[in-house]
Amino acid sequence: MSLARPSAPTVLCLIGGLYLLLLWPPAARGDCSPPSEVPNAHPDLKGLSSFPVNSTVTYRCNEDFVKIPGQTDTVICLENDQWSEISEFCNRSCDVPPHLRFAMLKRPYSNQNYFPVGSTVEYECRLGYRRVIGLSGTLTCLQNFTWSKPADFCTKKSCPNPGELINGHINGTTDFLFGATIYFSCNTGYKLIGEKSSLCVIMGDNVGWTEQLPVCREIYCQEPPKIENGRIVRGEREQYVYSQAVMYACNRGFTLIGEDTIHCSARGDEGEWSGPAPQCRGRSPPATSPPVSKPTTANVPATQGELLSRTTTRSHATSIPKEGMIPSDSSLLIAGIVAGVVIIASIGVGVGLWKFRDHCRRR
Ligand SMILES: *[C@@H]1O[C@H](CO)[C@@H](O)[C@H](O)[C@H]1NC(C)=O
Ligand SMILES: *[C@@H]1O[C@H](CO)[C@@H](O)[C@H](O)[C@H]1NC(C)=O
Ligand SMILES: *[C@@H]1O[C@H](CO)[C@@H](O)[C@H](O)[C@H]1NC(C)=O
Ligand SMILES: *[C@@H]1O[C@H](CO)[C@@H](O)[C@H](O)[C@H]1NC(C)=O
Repeated sequence: MSLARPSAPTVLCLIGGLYLLLLWPPAARGDCSPPSEVPNAHPDLKGLSSFPVNSTVTYRCNEDFVKIPGQTDTVICLENDQWSEISEFCNRSCDVPPHLRFAMLKRPYSNQNYFPVGSTVEYECRLGYRRVIGLSGTLTCLQNFTWSKPADFCTKKSCPNPGELINGHINGTTDFLFGATIYFSCNTGYKLIGEKSSLCVIMGDNVGWTEQLPVCREIYCQEPPKIENGRIVRGEREQYVYSQAVMYACNRGFTLIGEDTIHCSARGDEGEWSGPAPQCRGRSPPATSPPVSKPTTANVPATQGELLSRTTTRSHATSIPKEGMIPSDSSLLIAGIVAGVVIIASIGVGVGLWKFRDHCRRR
């Protein structure tokens, strides 16, 4: 009776079902569900729950785990609504190998970050260092995820021995190792021409000194000063070096004032005479005695006997013309005779007067 006309509730049910089918299409129609777990990693879902075909999800390693190089960390939603294959790709690792003062990681290891237990890394010596024979330059990642202790398998290279500094000396280290500084100084009386110090640094594949050895050159004094009425009697020479002395003496009739000897000394890098040259002062000549009669040796030491005699004779020759003011010998003689006659006459007169007085008293 009612088969031809379905009831109203049945129609409503059919329409509702159709509506539900349209609203939630089956998952099989181009969508992946959230990807599955991978050991020691977690997917970065970016807050999504539905993933269309060709979309990707990348996993992150858990703390203390490191991605194994060459292994994939990403899955893609395929046409069949399945995620692509992924296998375990995170593992425990040692930290980046230690930075060593004397060595650096060899090429393949220097940009690596996955070091599982038992893996090794190799070092090479830094510039300025050389390998120590018998010590390993390899470190191993240990069971407790620490690196084996590095030995000092590289040591500083040595610069060549700088050699001797003639008339000077080199101080500083004696081993001349890479990084060392040596200092140069000259003996007294010498000045340093060149650099005061040198550093052992990297040069090409090796190490070498930044500076060449300097030279210690003798310090010269200027020519000693000339003096008036005197001269250098000992030590005169072409050039004067440190500690050489000159001695002065005065010409006849002149007195030496000051030190008779000065020596070449060094002030810093410059030669300098130890003091001023002496002066020769003329004495006010006593009128009674001619200056030629008694040679004075007071100004010149006894050892200078030979030089003195030469100087004396010379000063004779030079001093005679200066005596033009003194009366000549003949006038002196006449003056003497006159004086004698006067004295004798006076005595005669005196005696005469005395006798005359005596004679008078007796009267
Ligand atoms: C997925 O990518 C492939 C190749 O890139 C392409 O041929 C295909 O049409 C893409 N599918 C969808 C649903 O975008
Ligand atoms: C993880 O590292 C250990 C050694 O530490 C190794 O034996 C193991 O095979 C590694 N696992 C993977 C998945 O590579
Ligand atoms: C790791 O192990 C080595 C040797 O097995 C040991 O010498 C070192 O002290 C350990 N390091 C730590 C941090 O436990
Ligand atoms: C070497 O001499 C320089 C200056 O002349 C000084 O600075 C330095 O300390 C000296 N070094 C040694 C090891 O004596």
